Amino acid sequence: MSHVTIDPLASARGHVAVPGDKSASHRALILSALADGESRLHGLSPGEDVRGTARLVSRLGATVLDGDVGVVRGPSEGLRPTTDPLDCGNSGTTMRLLAGVVAGVPGRHTLVGDPSLMRRPMDRVARPLREMGADVTGSGERETAPLRVIGRRPLRPIDFRVPIPSAQVKSAVLLAGLVAEGDTVIRESVRTRTTTEDMLRIAGIRVSSEDDGAGRVVVLRPGRPRPVDWVVPGDPSQAAFFVVLGAIHPRSEITVDSVDASPERTGFLDVLQRMGADIVRHPSKSGAGVEIVARSSTLRATEIHSIEIPSVDEVPALTVAAAAAAGVSAFRDMAELRVKESDRFAGAMDLATRLGCRVWADGDDFFVEGRGDASRFARFEIAAELDHRMVMSAAIAGAAGAGCAIAGAETVASSYPRFFDDLASLR
Ligand code: S3P
Repeated sequence: MSHVTIDPLASARGHVAVPGDKSASHRALILSALADGESRLHGLSPGEDVRGTARLVSRLGATVLDGDVGVVRGPSEGLRPTTDPLDCGNSGTTMRLLAGVVAGVPGRHTLVGDPSLMRRPMDRVARPLREMGADVTGSGERETAPLRVIGRRPLRPIDFRVPIPSAQVKSAVLLAGLVAEGDTVIRESVRTRTTTEDMLRIAGIRVSSEDDGAGRVVVLRPGRPRPVDWVVPGDPSQAAFFVVLGAIHPRSEITVDSVDASPERTGFLDVLQRMGADIVRHPSKSGAGVEIVARSSTLRATEIHSIEIPSVDEVPALTVAAAAAAGVSAFRDMAELRVKESDRFAGAMDLATRLGCRVWADGDDFFVEGRGDASRFARFEIAAELDHRMVMSAAIAGAAGAGCAIAGAETVASSYPRFFDDLASLR
């Protein structure tokens, strides 16, 4: 396990180009592997999670060439099973999306992962995929991996209400729906990221999406995606670490360029602005997405509901913002945090405690009494538990405050291998 020491940054100024969006990168690889022909992929995330998806689609029969621009050739006869277990590493997105894909690839498949992923619930994808006619079995009540899937084609189309806000579950069902005998309908009461629907449309699949007052209804017509020249924008969830650092550091101006600005991904910016953060968004100079500039700000506490940030991915970074704010911030309805790469409910509270905050929980809510200023943060030590976002949250807290030591920091490689270099470049 590698230990990284973060020294306080005297000032934090400069530009950061975050990696390509992880969600879009996984989907670009998967849709290209499903297509008949050659797709080119620009700006893919260099993280281990996405490299894992690339390795696995190649095990399933796609040809993957990894250069500055990725090239994926989907086999004309379609993907085929492999007898080897499909190792999804640390990546829940890989396992859940691929479960949807292999549900429609006739034959036996086994999905496994690292110790963090093997603990995460897979019942959320197993249930709808079984309803569609695939045979899916995990271990125990939560159907953790190894996840055994016997794929069938065609699958049955279903009308499915996603019981929890989850783009991964929605996406697994949509991907399986590509080989269903009729239209698949998905209803979500919380609007989660639309990456899959948007990219399926670009690949020529008919997908409609309508707000029904109570949420969103997505209808997918089966079909085969066509090859595409994909351009992946910057990852807003990675930008969040630098935006929070810019807002809490007393001497800062940080610009993050070319970030995807879809409304389901940028709730954290609204939260930070409500806390008083000096954040400006401009159209990106280099093309895709927006440029975000964050400067030193005096933050005040706020109330954050999980609906504002449906994936809760940015909650650990926002906990650091709350720790620097004046007053008590409330994080409401945060149960999903417990089943991410680590138990981030406990992890976020632990991090704020180490920074010197008073912290408490009530059911699925937790509260952080901020220190009013990041310069009051304590110096701390923390262990990362195979969770990249907890490492990056700890690192920005240490950089803005009194420094920190992180054990297991190498886990940033799963999504952002250059994170520590980019952080150091702001010095
Ligand atoms: C993702 C969806 C979210 C998010 C994850 C990526 C995706 O998970 O946390 O980092 O690419 O679909 P949930 O579907 O569990 O909310």
